[in-house]
Amino acid sequence: MADQGVNHGRRRFLTATTAVVGGVGGVFAAVPFVKSWQPSDRAKTAGAPVLQDISKLEPGQRVIAMWRGQPVWIIRRTPEVLAALSSLADQLVDPDSVNPDQQPKYAANASRAIRPEIAVIIGICTHLGCSPSFVPEMTPQEFDGDWKGGFFCPCHGSRFDMAGRVYKNVPAPRNLRVPPYHFVSDNLIEIGVDPMAEAA
Ligand code: FES
Repeated sequence: MADQGVNHGRRRFLTATTAVVGGVGGVFAAVPFVKSWQPSDRAKTAGAPVLQDISKLEPGQRVIAMWRGQPVWIIRRTPEVLAALSSLADQLVDPDSVNPDQQPKYAANASRAIRPEIAVIIGICTHLGCSPSFVPEMTPQEFDGDWKGGFFCPCHGSRFDMAGRVYKNVPAPRNLRVPPYHFVSDNLIEIGVDPMAEAA
């Protein structure tokens, strides 16, 4: 249903996203240390941290990592998207990320992120667990005539902004979850490790 609103720009975007995923694999293959660090599939399912390279991630693009069997969306947000986030507060259930169950402390801020331009969000709807569609275009959609980019759940119509914050008057009760993560380096994210919790 969400894809009915997809235009040619979105198709180009999806093609670019696929290229990013492929490119990331190439980067790992070329860096023996990073590759050897990757846990086995069995360990990943059990909860081992995963590394994700974002060096090829262009503004507006998304790459998907798998952690504990869940899709983790990593998006490089544009300045336009970041500016729009601050204009949506009165339309959202929890604009300030007050619910502590939905993100680590270091992501309880306006962008729900360590670095505002990099979003790291678990792609599972907080209503009944569907995977929302990524609709990054800041253009009117069938489901929202004043759409500022974000995620639309095709199962029952919940909407989330580009920080994973849920809109009011939709079935989903909470913001999308932000997993524990940190930056190993500028372009390498480790998902599943909370350095602040470990230091406490
Ligand atoms: S599962 Fe997403 S709106 Fe119901």
